[in-house]
Amino acid sequence: MSGAPRVEVLAGPDDVARRAQELVYDALVHARREERRPVLCLATGRSMELLYARLAADARAEALRVDDIDLVALDEYLGLPADDEHSFRAELTRRVLTPWGRRSDSLLMPPAGAGGHSARPEQADLDAFETALAGLGGVDLQLLGIGRNGHIGFNEPGTDWQRGTHIVALDRTTRAANAEQFPGGVVPVEAVTQGVSTIMRARRILLLATGSAKAEAVAAALAGPSLDCPASALQVHPAAVMVIDREAAGLLVEQS
Ligand code: GLP
Repeated sequence: MSGAPRVEVLAGPDDVARRAQELVYDALVHARREERRPVLCLATGRSMELLYARLAADARAEALRVDDIDLVALDEYLGLPADDEHSFRAELTRRVLTPWGRRSDSLLMPPAGAGGHSARPEQADLDAFETALAGLGGVDLQLLGIGRNGHIGFNEPGTDWQRGTHIVALDRTTRAANAEQFPGGVVPVEAVTQGVSTIMRARRILLLATGSAKAEAVAAALAGPSLDCPASALQVHPAAVMVIDREAAGLLVEQS
């Protein structure tokens, strides 16, 4: 089963966020129609900011029903203290959980240790996360950004697509891209990420990319499945959509 993800090219980041919001709502409606609690898997990063702001505004205005949604996180840095404001848990708490009126422990996180600098998850912890995720009944919508090197979650180029949730050594380019978010530019060297096989089990996948810095990665993601570009795995998913802006689409060849 191979095919291209559906690609929607929109004018700019605001349009991307608006369209992404519609697709989130579609997935929620679809799950509820099938009498399931919707399961939403959240990515972090700048690509998600405008979408999460829109959802937060709707939740505050009670225009978005959030009480029955199960929330899962895609990845997390390893070795940060539990209360570190730079963790993905903290980011998702600020942008999603708090505005939605949800407690921060209502987010299923990939295990990133017990919060101590030296804590390191064991294989049993990683397996337990996969079991907990499966126990939710599967992800209805997996949100994804894309790294400049084509990574999804923290699955770096060369990652075996069969892998489930695992520990990764972060690529130098990934650490450089995220340096501005850490004091002194000191980015953790490792992370825990859902694997490509975990991501691919989602019923629907929505990847967002904006800006010219993502153009090369977007082009590689659509050029043909290759281990060198983890995002190209979306080509073998039956319901993947890429919503991108014109700048991120800058290196795509026009299809007539
Ligand atoms: C980060 C995250 C990814 C994210 C990507 C792009 O390192 N692990 O989940 O999608 O890089 O981030 P941004 O949207 O900030 O460019």
